[in-house]
Amino acid sequence: MTQVKAAQTPSDSTPRLYGGTGTRRVTVRDIAAAKQRGEKWPMLTAYDALTASAFDDAGIPVLLVGDSAGNCHLGYDTTVPVTVEELLVLSSAVVRGTRRALVVSDLPFGSYQEGPVQALRTATRFMKEAGSGAIKLEGGERTLPQTSALVQAGIPVMAHLGLTPQSVHAFGGYPVQGRGEEAAQRLLNDAKAAESAGAFALVLELVPAELAAQITEQLRIPTIGIGAGPDCDAQVLVWTDMAGMTAGRTPRFVKRYADMRGALTEAATAFAQDVAGGAYPTEEHSFH
Ligand code: KIV
Repeated sequence: MTQVKAAQTPSDSTPRLYGGTGTRRVTVRDIAAAKQRGEKWPMLTAYDALTASAFDDAGIPVLLVGDSAGNCHLGYDTTVPVTVEELLVLSSAVVRGTRRALVVSDLPFGSYQEGPVQALRTATRFMKEAGSGAIKLEGGERTLPQTSALVQAGIPVMAHLGLTPQSVHAFGGYPVQGRGEEAAQRLLNDAKAAESAGAFALVLELVPAELAAQITEQLRIPTIGIGAGPDCDAQVLVWTDMAGMTAGRTPRFVKRYADMRGALTEAATAFAQDVAGGAYPTEEHSFH
């Protein structure tokens, strides 16, 4: 697979996360080094081997097998119904499709909320059966015992604060989080708690840009923004939103870099018309 080649940062022997010379799997140490040198980096979701291999070729250093697979791959309305078995299959495929990216797997709703023992049991399956390099779970203070238990067991944990989609029914939708002084302070405390429990990175979803900037400045671990403004250390998008594969409206924070849905529909229509009209297959596609 092609790797993007570019200069290394002179003051640091670790290859840059994006655009560097590294070809081995990205690790959480590389991610810590990127924060130290102030490198901004991209993360995308992935749910299958082919798409993941394209993102690996593009040099995306971290791929998240998010439970957004529920909405974007499995046809559910929310992330709530996604199961461990489903994400294990998708995570294994993404690991098989990549050589360089750090593959982070979401712990689905109901697979870690009972406590540290359940969280450890689930996370262990992702590390052993899928070959994931890290896991992500939602919550700050409320899931600290889970984060601590995983970190102590040697499992890298990415925390997720702000709009945590597994709580969609409690939120009553997908509103911006951390607005107002009290909510902002709570989010900041949650972020610091996740860091002190040993999380290696923190996703901030749908948070005011000013608050995300403040959290990013106060943490030693990188923040990964999604609808959290430009000052986070990294940015993540759901790949189907980023590439224009998602049907219908996408959230305001999404920037669409392609029209995959349009391209696929066009290709399928052309194929169907060729078959119906007898234009495919021709002699060139036939065996004798
Ligand atoms: O499941 C997911 O894709 C996520 C990202 C939106 C961060 O959690």
